[in-house]
Amino acid sequence: MIVLKNNDFIERNEATIDMEDRGHQFGDGVYEVVRVYDGEAFLLQDHLDRLQYSLNEVEINYDVNQQGLSQLLQQLIEKNKINDGGIYLQITRGVAPRNHPYPEDTQPVLFAYPLQLSRPLKAQAQGITTILQKDFRWLRCDIKSLNLLGNVMTKQKASNANAGEAIFYRDENHVTEGSSTNVFIVKDDKLYTHPADNLILNGITRRYIFHLANQLNIPYEEKVFSLTDLKEADEVFITSTSAEVTPVVEIEGQKIANGQPGPISKKLLDAFFEYKN
Ligand code: PDD
Repeated sequence: MIVLKNNDFIERNEATIDMEDRGHQFGDGVYEVVRVYDGEAFLLQDHLDRLQYSLNEVEINYDVNQQGLSQLLQQLIEKNKINDGGIYLQITRGVAPRNHPYPEDTQPVLFAYPLQLSRPLKAQAQGITTILQKDFRWLRCDIKSLNLLGNVMTKQKASNANAGEAIFYRDENHVTEGSSTNVFIVKDDKLYTHPADNLILNGITRRYIFHLANQLNIPYEEKVFSLTDLKEADEVFITSTSAEVTPVVEIEGQKIANGQPGPISKKLLDAFFEYKN
């Protein structure tokens, strides 16, 4: 495997991280996961724009355009001959003696490497079961930060329950997102999903769904919904770079509608598939 470290392409076994890298010690860094379909990074510019947003919010001094990151990632795809898969990319504040405040003049450290990401075809065809989890994460979920412990603990809870995802809620009137996905409900042929504020990650796939919905004349609204709205929805689905569009057929043991993937979820999924043809 060839890995991009800053501006250099190196072998996997040379890709080591310093003990005092702030990403390692404080989770002081940001990341992206990008899909590659047919050798092309999907929605790359959107991912790079969001990366720049995350970097700016935490004041990591790295300019995606100036560094030619888009071209570097294209080279990474070519060097690794990625056809269908993904790229993981992270940028930390860099290496400095351990101290909480941002150090001055530290060079950010970037790593990017190929991910094996297969398409979740079975989950998409059958739908997944989910559990609920009170959202105990911090209040800057809009930053795609390396601090994923709350998400990881929650995904493990879902795994332990043999569920495909856990859905977070701040209180019973306020569902936010999944542990690594955005959540949509369908009610009376209209889509609803949480507004893009500090309580969710503004998913690239989430935004792509708006684009598909416009093309398919499916109305949508970014609006907070409740646990009751969720459980009584006509359809529920999650979206992410890896999940694409995956229907949810059960929440905490309770079926959504008839317990089968619904027609609007399928329509969006078909439109998603068509993109590549
Ligand atoms: N997860 N919400 C959270 C908390 C996420 O971690 C993700 C992505 C999303 C969906 O974002 P997007 O559509 O841009 O992938 C929403 C990535 C894939 C991950 O951590 O693996």
